[in-house]
Amino acid sequence: MTTSHWILTAVALALLAVFAYLYAVTWIESHQARQLEGKQLYASTSTGTSRSAVVYFSRSGNTALAARHVAQRLDAKLFTLEAPSYELGMGGLAYAVMDANARRSKPEVLPGTTPRTIDLKPFDTVWIGSPVWLYSPAPPIWAFVEHNRFDGQHVVLFNTFNSHIGDDYIAALKTKVLERGAKSFEHKRVLRGRMTQQLKSEQMLQVIDEEWFAADTERDCEQHVFPESTLVS
Ligand SMILES: Cc1cc2nc3c(=O)[nH]c(=O)nc-3n(C[C@H](O)[C@H](O)[C@H](O)COP(=O)(O)O)c2cc1C
Repeated sequence: MTTSHWILTAVALALLAVFAYLYAVTWIESHQARQLEGKQLYASTSTGTSRSAVVYFSRSGNTALAARHVAQRLDAKLFTLEAPSYELGMGGLAYAVMDANARRSKPEVLPGTTPRTIDLKPFDTVWIGSPVWLYSPAPPIWAFVEHNRFDGQHVVLFNTFNSHIGDDYIAALKTKVLERGAKSFEHKRVLRGRMTQQLKSEQMLQVIDEEWFAADTERDCEQHVFPESTLVS
């Protein structure tokens, strides 16, 4: 074989490996999304008196489950951000990687989300949930923060992720949220572990209860009372 044949074979093998990796990731994500879809459904009560809102973006369902859990605990109003460019599948995954990467050099380039703006005035606390993409909250969250105001509110960013978050990105998002009027900012996270060794959904929710709501859980256990449930399944 000539040198050019070797190079062509090496390139073909590398492309095949990338394709196989993307295919495996996509398969795992779709499988997870199907499993999580029906778990812990939550109907936010529009007449509720809760002063908390939970706004989230999720691609494969994990942040969505965390968001439903948080909203149920707080009896909060739940808002989903849709970003069709990143739907499950190889195309969506490719766009997710490309856009997350593009944001590093061009933070002003933001994806469209539906809804683009939400009337958050009725709320004192706004929870914002997102997966981590390339160490940063996913682009739809940056778009949401850019297009909305948080005047006088306490904002809690929460992330689900596999292994690493860039603290510099969290600091940058905090700055942005405060610039958009928030009075305070908090960050919560749940580490799910690398693919094939991840927490089960019940374990993820247990971590959330223990780490994010430690004080409430202790108080509930002492008093043997649990928040009124708005679970619909
Ligand atoms: C494009 C892309 C990039 C990702 N980058 C990271 C990363 O940098 N660090 C990390 O810990 N997890 C990363 N992940 C994993 C997700 O953050 C993690 O699986 C998350 O829980 C998925 O949430 P979702 O199911 O709500 O979409 C990435 C996932 C995708 C699709």
